[in-house]
Amino acid sequence: PAPALPAPDLLPRAPRGFLGRARELAALDTAVERARVALVTGPAGVGKTALALNWAHRRASHYPDGVLYADLRGFSPDDGVDSADVLREFLPALGVPPRQVPESPTAAAALYRSLTEDRALLVVLDNVRSADRARPLLPAGARSATVVTSRLRLGGLVVTELARPVPLGVLGLDDSAALLAAAVGGDRVDAEPAA
Ligand SMILES: Nc1ncnc2c1ncn2[C@@H]1O[C@H](COP(=O)(O)OP(=O)(O)OP(=O)(O)O)[C@@H](O)[C@H]1O
Ligand SMILES: [Mg+2]
Repeated sequence: PAPALPAPDLLPRAPRGFLGRARELAALDTAVERARVALVTGPAGVGKTALALNWAHRRASHYPDGVLYADLRGFSPDDGVDSADVLREFLPALGVPPRQVPESPTAAAALYRSLTEDRALLVVLDNVRSADRARPLLPAGARSATVVTSRLRLGGLVVTELARPVPLGVLGLDDSAALLAAAVGGDRVDAEPAA
């Protein structure tokens, strides 16, 4: 038998100084308990990626076969990244020698499905523009979970994958104030020696 590979970990570092979002973190917990796909949606810059990364770092230990992450750049001026490009990273991470990754997107997707059937993986798909680009990247088995982020509602994923939406609004007033204080170095006030 081939030696066991270490579980993949493609998750980027979570942004430092993450604040608030307790309700949304709990909503993500519930979403992945009830469905295989959670869908974090909201306007540009509202904090979707920050939330998804933070949550994924907290929950990674629930997925012993590893964590996959891809930024599909669905809202960048170019065409973004399509699922075949992502599979060229995901399949080697799952132990496929790079030269054995199928050229054909259909064959690559089929191999990905068979490799993910029995594993417990957490997959984070960031900045997804369309349901079609996410579908081939959803792990096949019931032990895995996927978190998708998008500026769009991606109704297609809700309909065909029963994805659970986790809509994000702007941060609450207290958290926004704390964020602003941290950004402008509000702690310097306390650091000043008492007169
Ligand atoms: N809860 C939070 N606490 C602290 N910083 C945050 C929080 N949420 C977001 N940020 C910061 O705000 C900025 C924008 O957040 P983020 O990149 O997650 O937004 P986004 O919704 O993913 O944007 P886009 O639609 O462009 O992908 C980042 O610098 C991020 O670190
Ligand atoms: Mg983002």
